[in-house]
Amino acid sequence: MITIIGAGRVGSTAAFNILRYRIGDVVLIDIFENLAKGEALDMMQTAPALEFDGKIIGTNDYSQMQNSELVIVTAGEARKPGMSRIDLMNKNAGIVKSVVREVVKHAPDCKLMIVTNPVDVMTYVAYKTSGFERNRVFGMGNILDTLRFRSYIALELNVSREDIRALVIGEHGDSMVPLAEYASVAGIPITRLLTKEKIDKIINLTVSSGAEVINLKGSTTHAPAAAIAIMADAIVRGRNRVMGVSTVLQGEYGFKDVSIGMPVVLGKNGVEKILELDLSLEARRRLEKSVAVIKECIDNLSV
Ligand code: 2OP
Repeated sequence: MITIIGAGRVGSTAAFNILRYRIGDVVLIDIFENLAKGEALDMMQTAPALEFDGKIIGTNDYSQMQNSELVIVTAGEARKPGMSRIDLMNKNAGIVKSVVREVVKHAPDCKLMIVTNPVDVMTYVAYKTSGFERNRVFGMGNILDTLRFRSYIALELNVSREDIRALVIGEHGDSMVPLAEYASVAGIPITRLLTKEKIDKIINLTVSSGAEVINLKGSTTHAPAAAIAIMADAIVRGRNRVMGVSTVLQGEYGFKDVSIGMPVVLGKNGVEKILELDLSLEARRRLEKSVAVIKECIDNLSV
C-alpha cells in the first residue's frame, strides 16, 4: 500500500498514475477531508474504463496509512508565480515536520518520499525528524528535471523522447546541474550530435521550464506526478532503477549533512546505492555551488 499525504493537484494526479499503472493501492490523506474523499471517489469511478483494480481511500485520518510500504509527502504550499522554492522553506518545513511525526507513528517501517518544496531542504528536515536510516528518506526532484532535459534534447534532435537517456544532479532548483557529458541518444553522446551552443540552450530551458509552467498555469502538475509514479514503481516493484534522487550524503562526493540530488539505484529499500561519477570541472563547480545553496538554507531554517 502507498500513502500520499496532500490531495492537491500533484498528490491526486500522482495517486491516479499509481492506480492507473497498477503500481499499488493508494491511501490519499488531506487535512481537507472532503477533498481527499472526493478525489478518491472520482478516481475510483474511472476504474471500469481504465481497467485497474487497485483500491483508493480518501481520508483525513492519518492512522489509515498503517503499514504502508511507501509514504509520499506532497503537502505544503506550492510555488506561486515569481516565488522561488526557497521562499517556501520555513512554512513548508513546519508542515513537513508535523506530517513526518504522523508517519513515524503510523508507518514506522515505510520508505518516505518527499515532494514538498524546496525538496532538498525538506528531505533533510524529514530525515532529521523521522530518525529513519538515510536510505529510507529521499526526495523527488532531479528525476523531474531529467524528464524536462530529455524532452528538450528530443525536441532539438527531432527524435523519440524514449531514446534519450540523461541525468540531472544537484539542487532541484535554479542551481541544478544537467550533465551533458552523460546524456545520450540510444547510446550516442549528445556532445557528438549537438553544438555547445545548442546544449547550453537545452540546459537553460531545463532549468527554467518549471517556472515557465508555473507562470503559464499557476502550478506544475503532470510532470511532477509522472516523476512520482516512476519512483514509486521503482520502489514497490524493486526494480533498482537508476535516476537522480535527493539523498542524504555522508561523505559521498566529499559532502555531508545535506540532502541533494545524486544518481542513485532506487529499489525495495529506497536508495540502494549512491553512484559516484567522475564529473567534469564545470559540473563539479556547479555541484559545489548547488550544495552551498542547500546548506545555507538548512543553516537558516527557523522552524
Ligand atoms: C517543479 O519543478 C514546482 O518543483 C516543482 O515542477
